[in-house]
Amino acid sequence: MRDAPLFAQRLAEVGEAVEQRLRTLLSGDRPGGIEAGQLGDAMRYAVLGGGKRLRPFLLVETAALFGVAQSAALNAAAAVECIHCYSLVHDDLPAMDDDDVRRGRATVHRAFDEATAILAGDGLLTLAFEILGRPDTHADIAVRLQLVGALARASGWEGMVGGQQLDLEAENDPQQDLPGIVRIQALKTGALIGFAVTAGAMLGRASAEELRILSAYADKLGLAFQVADDILDAEGDPAVVGKATRKDAAAGKATFVSLLGLEAARVRLRRLEEEAVATLAPLGGRAAVLQETARFVARRRS
Ligand code: IPE
Ligand code: IPE
Ligand code: MG
Ligand code: MG
Ligand code: MG
Repeated sequence: MRDAPLFAQRLAEVGEAVEQRLRTLLSGDRPGGIEAGQLGDAMRYAVLGGGKRLRPFLLVETAALFGVAQSAALNAAAAVECIHCYSLVHDDLPAMDDDDVRRGRATVHRAFDEATAILAGDGLLTLAFEILGRPDTHADIAVRLQLVGALARASGWEGMVGGQQLDLEAENDPQQDLPGIVRIQALKTGALIGFAVTAGAMLGRASAEELRILSAYADKLGLAFQVADDILDAEGDPAVVGKATRKDAAAGKATFVSLLGLEAARVRLRRLEEEAVATLAPLGGRAAVLQETARFVARRRS
């Protein structure tokens, strides 16, 4: 697909479809739903109308490799975005990174209050699993169960949450080395990106060999994504990135940039981009969109 405008158009189209599905799933007036008042407002505020929607896109495009229609992948895509948004709400809390701006607007605890932000995160976390369990997520209950297990592992104590804990523990720790930072990033960011790709493959009933290739791709991509995030923190424009920058160094965060310096981090990012693209070669031309995704992730400005 080596065509950036075409890729951007596709990302926007899938993003719009994901937005619509999330809007439906988070609507206060769904059948049997309760009026969640401020909590529902905060959950919708956290999820709707923002973000690159990279994880849902990866899920939809990986499923598409195996002929799964976009509409059939949107519930699982919405579920991973709910987890991602919850992780952002909690990441921004004063007890964690203490941020006031996210996606170009006030963070949830700023727009509402801290207790509501904690509960909105909890609500999104649990909603993700409710969505995965729904019959319209996949007709086969065994596939739904597989998705639930995979998302729980990717987002829990041996995945994203575990990575967030290590990220906080590594603050101002001069002992951090490269393997340590790779491990933190693989957990806090890579695990959920890995889930997005794996879930697409599960929906498409990929073979073990295809799954192995896609997992290797996701590992490179996840790392590239967080290296790019760290570089953006060091040199990005807050107005473009949509969140405060130059915070990692001030907080003493352990990142690729803090360990290697900006230039070496950029070199590393290029290498990860090329490795991610090369990993997909055995899948041939049908993996072109995922290859283009790796280029997008490594070159993004926001
Ligand atoms: C930001 O993720 C948090 C990290 C895992 C580094 P994104 O850069 O995907 O955030 P949105 O969804 O586009 O806002
Ligand atoms: C957060 O990483 C990753 C998760 C939310 C799991 P960061 O703390 O670097 O993300 P940003 O920079 O605030 O988006
Ligand atoms: Mg953080
Ligand atoms: Mg943060
Ligand atoms: Mg960051």
